[in-house]
Amino acid sequence: MNHQLENKRVLVTGGSRGIGAAIVKRLAQEGAHVALTYVSKPDQANATAKAAQAFGVKAITIKADSADANAVVSVVERTVDELGGIDILVNNAGIAVIAPIDAYRLEDLDRTLAVNLRAVFVATQAAVKHMKTGGRIITIGSCNAERVPFEGGAVYAMSKAALVGLVKGLAHDLGPRGITINNVQPGPINTDLNPEDSDFADMLRKQMAMPRYGTTDEVAAMVAYLAGAEAGFVTGASLTIDGGFTA
Ligand SMILES: NC(=O)c1ccc[n+]([C@@H]2O[C@H](COP(=O)([O-])OP(=O)(O)OC[C@H]3O[C@@H](n4cnc5c(N)ncnc54)[C@H](OP(=O)(O)O)[C@@H]3O)[C@@H](O)[C@H]2O)c1
Repeated sequence: MNHQLENKRVLVTGGSRGIGAAIVKRLAQEGAHVALTYVSKPDQANATAKAAQAFGVKAITIKADSADANAVVSVVERTVDELGGIDILVNNAGIAVIAPIDAYRLEDLDRTLAVNLRAVFVATQAAVKHMKTGGRIITIGSCNAERVPFEGGAVYAMSKAALVGLVKGLAHDLGPRGITINNVQPGPINTDLNPEDSDFADMLRKQMAMPRYGTTDEVAAMVAYLAGAEAGFVTGASLTIDGGFTA
């Protein structure tokens, strides 16, 4: 593993488990100091921070609900205070409430948009105040922005589709400042959110060119590419990693 991110300062929202935890560990392995947020599982957050520290970098955990805009701004400020700045922001925290339209609760729509979309804008706005040329913003969207072949996924898909437009627009705000912003769109990935051993998973695999779930490490590798110097000309892009779910 090369050390392309030596001494970069990174914030990963929702970094305690799943895809976020894999991103934390991968960027730490490449030499970055990392702050990660969590909301409900401090033990998982601490375990992930410890795994990152094993690579010889600083790693801190911050409890913060992404649905709370003030908390999101505070997380960015604390990252800057404790790591000495911020070079890379990974907006990973996300929730999925799947329910058909007749049963969908308005409070779940509001919370989904607050966590999956508004928090991305708020964290990005707070982070770019501190970022210099070479800064990187990476959001974790979803293949469901492009294809939603099951009942009940509309609100989740809407929240992820909005990220496609957000990164395109912000690419123009941030490009002249030398900061890139991109969106990674995973397909089915084996995590607590979407375990590979369920009836839902069996249905999804049938939709894919490669009928298997992806791993969190595969997504983290794409994030590491976008975070590094070699991706300096990639911005405003939504890059899909989905085993052909949308093919
Ligand atoms: N898994 C998939 O198949 C898949 C596919 C496409 C896109 N994605 C996207 O990838 C991202 C990560 O998903 P995942 O599968 O890794 O999910 P996960 O296993 O459920 O993990 C979610 C992570 O986000 C944190 N989190 C949840 N709600 C939060 C909130 N309100 N504020 C702050 N942190 C919060 C959790 O913290 P705690 O540990 O404290 O609960 C945890 O660290 C999400 O944006 C998701 O939409 C996932």
